[in-house]
Amino acid sequence: MTIDEKAAKTLDELGLADSNGVGELFAEVRAAIECEVDSFRRREASDSDSACEAKTLRDRWLARGHGLIAQIDQNWLKATPKESRGMVGAEFNRLRQYATSQIDVDSLPGARKTTSAARGEAARGPDLTLPGNQRELGSIHPVTRVQRELEDIFIGLGFRIETGPEIESVYNNFDALNIPESHPSRDDWDTLYIDSTTLLRTHTSPVQIRAMRKHGAPLYIVTPGKCYRNENPDATHSAMFHQIEGLAVDTDITFADLKGTLDFFAKKFFGERTRTRFQPSFFPFTEPSGEMAASCPFCGGQGCRTCKESGWIELMGCGMVHPDVLRHGGIDPERYSGWAFGLGIERFAMLKYDIGEIQNFFQSDVRFLKQF
Ligand code: PHE
Repeated sequence: MTIDEKAAKTLDELGLADSNGVGELFAEVRAAIECEVDSFRRREASDSDSACEAKTLRDRWLARGHGLIAQIDQNWLKATPKESRGMVGAEFNRLRQYATSQIDVDSLPGARKTTSAARGEAARGPDLTLPGNQRELGSIHPVTRVQRELEDIFIGLGFRIETGPEIESVYNNFDALNIPESHPSRDDWDTLYIDSTTLLRTHTSPVQIRAMRKHGAPLYIVTPGKCYRNENPDATHSAMFHQIEGLAVDTDITFADLKGTLDFFAKKFFGERTRTRFQPSFFPFTEPSGEMAASCPFCGGQGCRTCKESGWIELMGCGMVHPDVLRHGGIDPERYSGWAFGLGIERFAMLKYDIGEIQNFFQSDVRFLKQF
Protein backbone atom coordinates (compact mmCIF):
# COMPACT_ATOMS: atom_id res chain seq x y z
CA MET A 1 0.00 0.00 0.00
CA THR A 2 1.34 3.46 -0.86
CA ILE A 3 1.44 6.31 1.64
CA ASP A 4 -1.40 7.93 -0.28
CA GLU A 5 -3.56 4.85 0.10
CA LYS A 6 -2.74 4.57 3.76
CA ALA A 7 -3.54 8.23 4.40
CA ALA A 8 -7.01 7.66 2.94
CA LYS A 9 -7.81 4.95 5.49
CA THR A 10 -8.44 5.16 9.23
CA LEU A 11 -6.04 3.56 11.72
CA ASP A 12 -8.80 1.07 12.42
CA GLU A 13 -8.99 0.10 8.76
CA LEU A 14 -5.19 -0.23 8.73
CA GLY A 15 -5.47 -2.73 11.58
CA LEU A 16 -3.84 -0.38 14.08
CA ALA A 17 -6.72 0.01 16.51
CA ASP A 18 -4.35 -0.37 19.46
CA SER A 19 -1.29 1.80 19.65
CA ASN A 20 1.09 -0.92 18.48
CA GLY A 21 2.58 -0.01 15.16
CA VAL A 22 1.34 3.60 15.16
CA GLY A 23 4.87 4.84 15.81
CA GLU A 24 6.21 2.82 12.88
CA LEU A 25 3.47 4.10 10.61
CA PHE A 26 4.33 7.73 11.37
CA ALA A 27 8.04 6.95 10.92
CA GLU A 28 7.18 5.55 7.51
CA VAL A 29 5.44 8.81 6.56
CA ARG A 30 8.43 10.85 7.70
CA ALA A 31 10.71 8.65 5.65
CA ALA A 32 8.49 9.23 2.61
CA ILE A 33 8.72 12.99 3.10
CA GLU A 34 12.50 12.82 3.45
CA CYS A 35 12.76 10.75 0.29
CA GLU A 36 10.53 13.06 -1.77
CA VAL A 37 12.31 16.21 -0.56
CA ASP A 38 15.68 14.62 -1.35
CA SER A 39 14.75 13.72 -4.87
CA PHE A 40 13.25 17.18 -5.35
CA ARG A 41 16.53 18.80 -4.31
CA ARG A 42 18.54 16.58 -6.64
CA ARG A 43 16.33 17.48 -9.62
CA GLU A 44 16.18 21.10 -8.55
CA ALA A 45 19.95 21.47 -8.99
CA SER A 46 19.66 20.92 -12.71
CA ASP A 47 16.09 21.82 -13.51
CA SER A 48 14.81 25.32 -14.19
CA ASP A 49 11.19 24.28 -13.66
CA SER A 50 11.73 23.70 -9.99
CA ALA A 51 9.41 26.49 -8.92
CA CYS A 52 6.51 24.60 -10.35
CA GLU A 53 7.69 21.34 -8.84
CA ALA A 54 8.14 22.86 -5.43
CA LYS A 55 4.53 23.94 -5.50
CA THR A 56 3.39 20.49 -6.51
CA LEU A 57 5.37 18.95 -3.68
CA ARG A 58 4.02 21.46 -1.22
CA ASP A 59 0.42 20.97 -2.31
CA ARG A 60 0.75 17.22 -2.25
CA TRP A 61 1.70 17.29 1.44
CA LEU A 62 0.55 20.54 2.93
CA ALA A 63 -2.51 21.74 0.99
CA ARG A 64 -5.38 22.59 3.29
CA GLY A 65 -8.18 20.04 3.12
CA HIS A 66 -6.79 17.52 0.65
CA GLY A 67 -3.02 17.44 1.28
CA LEU A 68 -1.59 14.25 2.81
CA ILE A 69 -1.06 15.88 6.21
CA ALA A 70 -4.68 17.09 6.23
CA GLN A 71 -5.86 13.60 5.27
CA ILE A 72 -3.77 12.03 8.01
CA ASP A 73 -5.22 14.54 10.46
CA GLN A 74 -8.74 13.64 9.35
CA ASN A 75 -8.44 9.88 8.93
CA TRP A 76 -5.87 8.90 11.53
CA LEU A 77 -6.09 11.47 14.29
CA LYS A 78 -9.67 12.74 14.26
CA ALA A 79 -11.13 9.26 13.56
CA THR A 80 -9.32 7.78 16.56
CA PRO A 81 -11.51 7.44 19.65
CA LYS A 82 -10.75 10.10 22.30
CA GLU A 83 -9.25 7.60 24.79
CA SER A 84 -6.36 6.62 22.54
CA ARG A 85 -5.96 9.93 20.75
CA GLY A 86 -3.16 11.12 23.02
CA MET A 87 -0.27 9.24 21.48
CA VAL A 88 -1.62 9.55 17.93
CA GLY A 89 -1.87 13.29 18.55
CA ALA A 90 1.73 13.51 19.74
CA GLU A 91 2.93 11.57 16.72
CA PHE A 92 0.81 13.69 14.41
CA ASN A 93 2.14 16.97 15.79
CA ARG A 94 5.69 15.76 15.31
CA LEU A 95 4.89 14.74 11.77
CA ARG A 96 3.24 18.02 10.89
CA GLN A 97 6.17 19.99 12.26
CA TYR A 98 8.58 17.85 10.34
CA ALA A 99 6.58 18.18 7.11
CA THR A 100 6.27 21.97 7.34
CA SER A 101 9.93 22.39 8.20
CA GLN A 102 11.01 20.24 5.25
CA ILE A 103 8.51 21.29 2.62
CA ASP A 104 8.00 24.93 3.52
CA VAL A 105 8.04 26.82 0.22
CA ASP A 106 10.64 29.22 1.53
CA SER A 107 13.10 26.46 2.26
CA LEU A 108 12.59 24.92 -1.16
CA PRO A 109 14.67 27.47 -3.01
CA GLY A 110 13.18 27.31 -6.49
CA ALA A 111 9.77 27.97 -5.11
CA ARG A 112 9.41 31.70 -4.61
CA LYS A 113 12.78 33.19 -5.06
CA THR A 114 14.56 32.50 -8.25
CA THR A 115 17.61 34.75 -8.10
CA SER A 116 20.70 33.00 -6.89
CA ALA A 117 21.18 35.60 -4.15
CA ALA A 118 17.73 34.91 -2.81
CA ARG A 119 18.43 31.23 -3.09
CA GLY A 120 21.48 31.52 -0.91
CA GLU A 121 19.55 33.46 1.69
CA ALA A 122 16.72 31.00 1.74
CA ALA A 123 19.04 28.05 2.10
CA ARG A 124 20.39 29.56 5.28
CA GLY A 125 16.90 29.32 6.80
CA PRO A 126 14.79 32.00 8.43
CA ASP A 127 16.34 35.40 9.13
CA LEU A 128 16.49 35.55 12.93
CA THR A 129 17.34 39.24 12.91
CA LEU A 130 13.88 40.19 11.59
CA PRO A 131 11.55 41.61 14.27
CA GLY A 132 9.12 39.03 15.62
CA ASN A 133 5.34 39.27 15.82
CA GLN A 134 4.60 41.71 18.58
CA ARG A 135 1.48 41.56 20.64
CA GLU A 136 0.75 44.81 22.41
CA LEU A 137 -0.35 44.56 26.01
CA GLY A 138 -3.68 46.10 26.89
CA SER A 139 -4.32 48.10 30.03
CA ILE A 140 -7.19 48.51 32.48
CA HIS A 141 -9.78 50.97 31.19
CA PRO A 142 -9.79 54.20 33.26
CA VAL A 143 -13.49 53.76 34.14
CA THR A 144 -12.82 50.22 35.39
CA ARG A 145 -9.76 51.45 37.25
CA VAL A 146 -11.71 54.14 39.08
CA GLN A 147 -14.63 51.77 39.67
CA ARG A 148 -12.27 49.37 41.44
CA GLU A 149 -10.76 52.17 43.46
CA LEU A 150 -14.21 53.31 44.60
CA GLU A 151 -15.23 49.73 45.39
CA ASP A 152 -12.06 49.17 47.40
CA ILE A 153 -12.71 52.14 49.67
CA PHE A 154 -16.15 50.79 50.57
CA ILE A 155 -14.99 47.19 50.81
CA GLY A 156 -12.48 48.47 53.38
CA LEU A 157 -15.45 49.81 55.36
CA GLY A 158 -17.21 46.44 55.35
CA PHE A 159 -19.49 46.94 52.34
CA ARG A 160 -20.05 44.12 49.86
CA ILE A 161 -20.39 44.34 46.07
CA GLU A 162 -23.82 43.59 44.69
CA THR A 163 -24.80 43.76 41.02
CA GLY A 164 -28.07 43.76 39.10
CA PRO A 165 -29.19 43.48 35.47
CA GLU A 166 -28.98 46.35 32.99
CA ILE A 167 -32.33 45.31 31.55
CA GLU A 168 -34.61 46.00 34.49
CA SER A 169 -38.29 45.99 35.26
CA VAL A 170 -40.12 49.31 35.24
CA TYR A 171 -41.27 48.32 38.73
CA ASN A 172 -37.74 48.05 40.21
CA ASN A 173 -36.43 51.08 38.37
CA PHE A 174 -39.37 53.33 39.27
CA ASP A 175 -42.41 52.07 41.22
CA ALA A 176 -40.53 50.31 44.02
CA LEU A 177 -38.39 53.42 44.38
CA ASN A 178 -41.43 55.50 45.12
CA ILE A 179 -41.76 56.93 41.61
CA PRO A 180 -45.32 56.02 40.50
CA GLU A 181 -46.28 56.30 36.85
CA SER A 182 -48.11 59.57 37.34
CA HIS A 183 -45.19 61.15 39.16
CA PRO A 184 -43.57 63.96 37.15
CA SER A 185 -40.10 62.97 38.37
CA ARG A 186 -40.20 59.93 36.07
CA ASP A 187 -39.44 62.46 33.37
CA ASP A 188 -36.21 63.37 35.18
CA TRP A 189 -34.79 60.21 33.72
CA ASP A 190 -34.91 60.09 29.91
CA THR A 191 -35.72 56.45 29.84
CA LEU A 192 -35.03 53.93 27.08
CA TYR A 193 -37.92 51.47 27.24
CA ILE A 194 -37.80 47.93 25.89
CA ASP A 195 -41.53 47.37 26.29
CA SER A 196 -44.20 48.59 28.69
CA THR A 197 -42.77 46.62 31.64
CA THR A 198 -39.03 46.54 30.89
CA LEU A 199 -36.41 49.21 30.33
CA LEU A 200 -32.69 49.86 30.35
CA ARG A 201 -32.09 50.90 33.93
CA THR A 202 -31.60 54.65 34.28
CA HIS A 203 -29.67 54.33 37.54
CA THR A 204 -28.26 51.65 39.84
CA SER A 205 -30.94 52.34 42.47
CA PRO A 206 -33.10 49.32 41.45
CA VAL A 207 -30.32 47.13 42.86
CA GLN A 208 -31.27 48.55 46.28
CA ILE A 209 -34.63 46.81 45.93
CA ARG A 210 -33.14 43.56 44.65
CA ALA A 211 -30.52 43.41 47.40
CA MET A 212 -32.99 44.19 50.20
CA ARG A 213 -35.31 41.46 48.98
CA LYS A 214 -32.48 38.97 48.58
CA HIS A 215 -30.49 39.59 51.76
CA GLY A 216 -32.75 41.51 54.15
CA ALA A 217 -31.25 43.72 56.86
CA PRO A 218 -28.66 44.56 58.05
CA LEU A 219 -27.21 45.36 54.65
CA TYR A 220 -24.07 47.21 53.55
CA ILE A 221 -23.55 47.15 49.78
CA VAL A 222 -22.13 49.07 46.84
CA THR A 223 -23.52 48.31 43.40
CA PRO A 224 -21.42 49.30 40.38
CA GLY A 225 -22.71 48.98 36.82
CA LYS A 226 -23.83 50.42 33.52
CA CYS A 227 -26.86 52.69 33.23
CA TYR A 228 -28.62 54.12 30.19
CA ARG A 229 -30.46 57.31 29.41
CA ASN A 230 -31.85 58.70 26.19
CA GLU A 231 -29.29 61.46 26.21
CA ASN A 232 -27.60 63.35 23.37
CA PRO A 233 -23.86 62.88 23.65
CA ASP A 234 -21.85 65.94 24.67
CA ALA A 235 -18.78 66.69 26.80
CA THR A 236 -20.43 65.49 30.01
CA HIS A 237 -23.32 63.27 28.84
CA SER A 238 -23.38 59.82 27.35
CA ALA A 239 -26.36 57.52 26.72
CA MET A 240 -24.41 54.76 28.45
CA PHE A 241 -22.48 55.50 31.63
CA HIS A 242 -21.57 53.91 34.95
CA GLN A 243 -22.82 54.47 38.46
CA ILE A 244 -22.04 53.15 41.88
CA GLU A 245 -24.84 53.04 44.37
CA GLY A 246 -24.21 52.73 48.10
CA LEU A 247 -26.74 51.41 50.57
CA ALA A 248 -26.51 50.90 54.32
CA VAL A 249 -29.50 49.50 56.20
CA ASP A 250 -29.32 48.67 59.89
CA THR A 251 -30.93 49.53 63.21
CA ASP A 252 -30.32 53.14 64.28
CA ILE A 253 -28.77 54.41 61.05
CA THR A 254 -28.90 58.21 60.98
CA PHE A 255 -27.94 61.05 58.69
CA ALA A 256 -24.76 61.38 60.76
CA ASP A 257 -23.67 57.91 59.52
CA LEU A 258 -24.27 59.04 55.95
CA LYS A 259 -22.25 62.23 56.41
CA GLY A 260 -19.43 60.52 58.27
CA THR A 261 -19.09 57.71 55.75
CA LEU A 262 -19.18 59.95 52.68
CA ASP A 263 -16.76 62.43 54.24
CA PHE A 264 -14.32 59.59 54.96
CA PHE A 265 -14.82 58.35 51.41
CA ALA A 266 -14.11 61.76 49.84
CA LYS A 267 -10.91 62.13 51.88
CA LYS A 268 -9.75 58.67 50.81
CA PHE A 269 -10.40 59.38 47.15
CA PHE A 270 -9.35 63.02 46.80
CA GLY A 271 -6.92 63.35 49.70
CA GLU A 272 -7.01 64.02 53.44
CA ARG A 273 -7.44 67.80 53.10
CA THR A 274 -10.72 67.43 51.25
CA ARG A 275 -13.75 69.04 52.92
CA THR A 276 -17.33 68.01 52.18
CA ARG A 277 -20.60 69.90 51.99
CA PHE A 278 -24.17 68.58 52.08
CA GLN A 279 -27.03 70.60 50.62
CA PRO A 280 -30.72 69.72 50.57
CA SER A 281 -32.05 68.17 47.37
CA PHE A 282 -34.87 65.94 46.22
CA PHE A 283 -35.08 62.29 45.21
CA PRO A 284 -38.35 60.34 45.51
CA PHE A 285 -36.56 57.38 47.12
CA THR A 286 -34.74 59.26 49.88
CA GLU A 287 -36.12 61.57 52.56
CA PRO A 288 -34.43 63.82 53.40
CA SER A 289 -32.32 63.95 50.24
CA GLY A 290 -29.02 65.68 49.73
CA GLU A 291 -26.42 66.68 47.19
CA MET A 292 -22.89 66.10 48.37
CA ALA A 293 -20.00 68.24 47.19
CA ALA A 294 -16.28 68.16 47.94
CA SER A 295 -13.82 71.03 48.05
CA CYS A 296 -12.30 71.28 44.58
CA PRO A 297 -9.32 68.89 44.37
CA PHE A 298 -7.65 71.14 41.79
CA CYS A 299 -7.59 74.45 43.68
CA GLY A 300 -8.25 73.26 47.21
CA GLY A 301 -11.39 75.38 47.33
CA GLN A 302 -9.83 78.65 46.14
CA GLY A 303 -11.84 78.67 42.93
CA CYS A 304 -10.59 77.65 39.49
CA ARG A 305 -11.88 76.74 36.04
CA THR A 306 -12.79 73.15 36.95
CA CYS A 307 -15.01 74.20 39.88
CA LYS A 308 -16.27 77.24 37.96
CA GLU A 309 -14.72 79.51 40.60
CA SER A 310 -17.07 78.08 43.28
CA GLY A 311 -14.46 76.07 45.17
CA TRP A 312 -16.83 73.07 45.26
CA ILE A 313 -17.42 70.06 43.04
CA GLU A 314 -20.81 68.30 43.12
CA LEU A 315 -20.19 64.60 43.59
CA MET A 316 -23.39 62.66 44.20
CA GLY A 317 -26.99 62.46 45.27
CA CYS A 318 -27.73 60.88 48.62
CA GLY A 319 -30.20 60.70 51.46
CA MET A 320 -32.02 58.59 54.02
CA VAL A 321 -33.83 55.67 52.40
CA HIS A 322 -37.55 56.47 52.18
CA PRO A 323 -39.67 54.20 54.46
CA ASP A 324 -41.76 53.14 51.44
CA VAL A 325 -38.62 51.97 49.66
CA LEU A 326 -37.60 49.88 52.68
CA ARG A 327 -41.10 48.43 52.69
CA HIS A 328 -40.88 47.56 48.97
CA GLY A 329 -37.60 45.84 49.78
CA GLY A 330 -39.37 43.76 52.43
CA ILE A 331 -37.71 45.57 55.34
CA ASP A 332 -39.67 46.94 58.32
CA PRO A 333 -39.08 50.72 58.51
CA GLU A 334 -40.15 50.69 62.16
CA ARG A 335 -37.13 48.57 63.00
CA TYR A 336 -34.58 49.58 60.38
CA SER A 337 -33.40 52.76 58.73
CA GLY A 338 -30.85 53.34 56.01
CA TRP A 339 -28.93 55.78 53.87
CA ALA A 340 -28.06 55.61 50.18
CA PHE A 341 -26.04 57.44 47.58
CA GLY A 342 -25.56 57.22 43.83
CA LEU A 343 -22.61 58.60 41.89
CA GLY A 344 -21.38 58.64 38.29
CA ILE A 345 -18.08 56.79 37.86
CA GLU A 346 -17.06 58.67 34.70
CA ARG A 347 -17.33 61.94 36.58
CA PHE A 348 -14.91 60.66 39.22
CA ALA A 349 -12.56 59.38 36.52
CA MET A 350 -12.70 62.76 34.75
CA LEU A 351 -11.84 64.56 37.99
CA LYS A 352 -9.10 62.12 38.89
CA TYR A 353 -7.36 62.18 35.52
CA ASP A 354 -8.36 65.72 34.50
CA ILE A 355 -10.27 64.53 31.43
CA GLY A 356 -12.51 67.12 29.79
CA GLU A 357 -14.71 64.91 27.59
CA ILE A 358 -16.76 61.92 28.74
CA GLN A 359 -16.78 60.70 25.12
CA ASN A 360 -13.07 59.88 25.38
CA PHE A 361 -13.93 56.86 27.51
CA PHE A 362 -16.04 55.18 24.85
CA GLN A 363 -14.22 55.89 21.58
CA SER A 364 -11.66 53.10 21.98
CA ASP A 365 -8.87 55.40 20.81
CA VAL A 366 -5.68 53.59 21.77
CA ARG A 367 -3.78 56.88 22.05
CA PHE A 368 -6.16 57.87 24.85
CA LEU A 369 -6.39 54.46 26.53
CA LYS A 370 -2.62 53.92 26.47
CA GLN A 371 -2.18 56.68 29.03
CA PHE A 372 -3.70 54.60 31.83
N1 PHE B 1 -30.35 57.36 41.61
C1 PHE B 1 -30.02 58.75 41.70
C2 PHE B 1 -29.65 59.26 40.30
O1 PHE B 1 -29.40 58.47 39.42
C3 PHE B 1 -28.88 58.99 42.65
C4 PHE B 1 -29.19 58.66 44.07
C5 PHE B 1 -29.00 57.38 44.57
C6 PHE B 1 -29.71 59.63 44.92
C7 PHE B 1 -29.28 57.07 45.88
C8 PHE B 1 -30.00 59.33 46.24
C9 PHE B 1 -29.80 58.07 46.71
O2 PHE B 1 -29.64 60.45 40.05
